[in-house]
Amino acid sequence: MRNDAIGVFDSGMGGLTAVKELNAILPQENIIYFGDTARIPYGSRSPETIMRYAREDVAFLRQHAVKMIIAACGTVSSVVGDRPFVTDLPFTGVVLPAAETACRITKNGRIGIIGTPATVRSGSYEKAIHKLRPEVAVISQACPLFVHLVENGYTDFRNPVTRLVAEEYLEPVRKEGVDTLILGCTHYPVIREVIADLMGPEVQLISSGAEAAKYARRCLEARDLLSDRKGPGENTYYVSDSTEMFIENAGHFLHQDVVGKVFRCSL
Ligand code: DGL
Repeated sequence: MRNDAIGVFDSGMGGLTAVKELNAILPQENIIYFGDTARIPYGSRSPETIMRYAREDVAFLRQHAVKMIIAACGTVSSVVGDRPFVTDLPFTGVVLPAAETACRITKNGRIGIIGTPATVRSGSYEKAIHKLRPEVAVISQACPLFVHLVENGYTDFRNPVTRLVAEEYLEPVRKEGVDTLILGCTHYPVIREVIADLMGPEVQLISSGAEAAKYARRCLEARDLLSDRKGPGENTYYVSDSTEMFIENAGHFLHQDVVGKVFRCSL
């Protein structure tokens, strides 16, 4: 079991921000990634539909030998909440890991959250933060266009469209004087530079995908499930739409070309 893969899924490519961190901190692990690129975005859908998609994504990963599942999607994590439907395997979303880190590092007790409409509507991050630190002020902002910009490659720091959209979304959060901002959707680290520039150097940004990866390491360690493979592990990617589009765009998330096999699958 300890050399089984870590299963990671997202509505598209955002979960690759978790894969990137997993590869950095757990290089000996095999990763099986599923990106539901045919049905993205999840963030503008109803909780019932998101839940149905999430169950199908997990069922797909379970067809492979996986020892843990990471819902590397802020939207899925928010809808699943603290009632996860995977109970026989270690499972994590991104909300709790990111909330824990934010609560630990904020100095002024003001935390911003940006995410998809479904994530912000669910109040998932606020609830997780207030469970840990009830006195913290939370300022949330939905950023519906970010996922589309990122999936379509509008990721350059200088891209005027991305900057304009980001200014519109981030100004209300910046004005609230937060010192910590959770990138509550796993797509957002790809435009981190633009976000950082607009928020200013005193605001710390938290990647929810990367925090979930760190949490997964702690979780596997505690259960003695870390791989004892001697060499590096392998990444295998499955997507529900074009593999070419995935390969072309995945570099923005991984900061390198895709290494590993990429397959198209249907659920
Ligand atoms: N990466 C997903 C998230 O973290 C994107 C959401 C979407 O599909 O709209 O929320």
